[in-house]
Amino acid sequence: MARLELTTALLTSAIMTVVVAAHAEERYGIGSPATPAEIAGWNIDIGRDGSNLPPGSGSVERGRVVFSEQCAACHGDNGQGGVGDRLVGGQGTLASPKPIRTVGSYWPYASTLFDYIRRAMPQNAPQSLSNEDVYAVSAYILSLNGVVPANAVLDAKSLAAVKMPNRDGFVSDPRPDVHDR
Ligand code: HEC
Repeated sequence: MARLELTTALLTSAIMTVVVAAHAEERYGIGSPATPAEIAGWNIDIGRDGSNLPPGSGSVERGRVVFSEQCAACHGDNGQGGVGDRLVGGQGTLASPKPIRTVGSYWPYASTLFDYIRRAMPQNAPQSLSNEDVYAVSAYILSLNGVVPANAVLDAKSLAAVKMPNRDGFVSDPRPDVHDR
């Protein structure tokens, strides 16, 4: 009996799927096609090669100001961490028993830093920074990590050209049942 009910339930759900699929092709008169401007608002991914980085630039000097005003409360005055992750240091610890993963020790591409900060930070007001300030604060975090000099000014080209310390630190998974994707 239980088995029969289950079969009926599956059949009903299969029929419903067909009905819903058929209906989906009809017009309900709701919604509207996304405009190019709306799509652009979401289409902000930056490639690891720096593709899609916007125009503009920012200096370490300016980044220091942005960081102290918008980031230090959670990440510490020098990026040492607090409510938010530690952003600085840890280079050379990844293979140790106590790895410290930070932007400086772990992240393979600097362009990801721009993407992440622009999309998600400050955590209490994501996407509120100008592109210039995202460049600046990225430059500042990279300088705290010793990856760019204190007088650096970064733009699309120079940020993409930064070689992160752990760029070559990733290896493929050696387990035989894991296949590269
Ligand atoms: C209100 C607290 C808060 C503020 C302000 C804030 N952050 Fe964060 N940030 C966080 C938290 C929490 C995380 C971890 C988020 C997660 O793992 O999902 C994080 C993660 C990050 C990371 C990723 C670190 C990693 O190794 O994964 C970066 C980079 C970063 N923040 C940069 C910034 C910058 C730059 C600013 C200022 C423009 C900023 N944050 C402001 C709370 C904050």
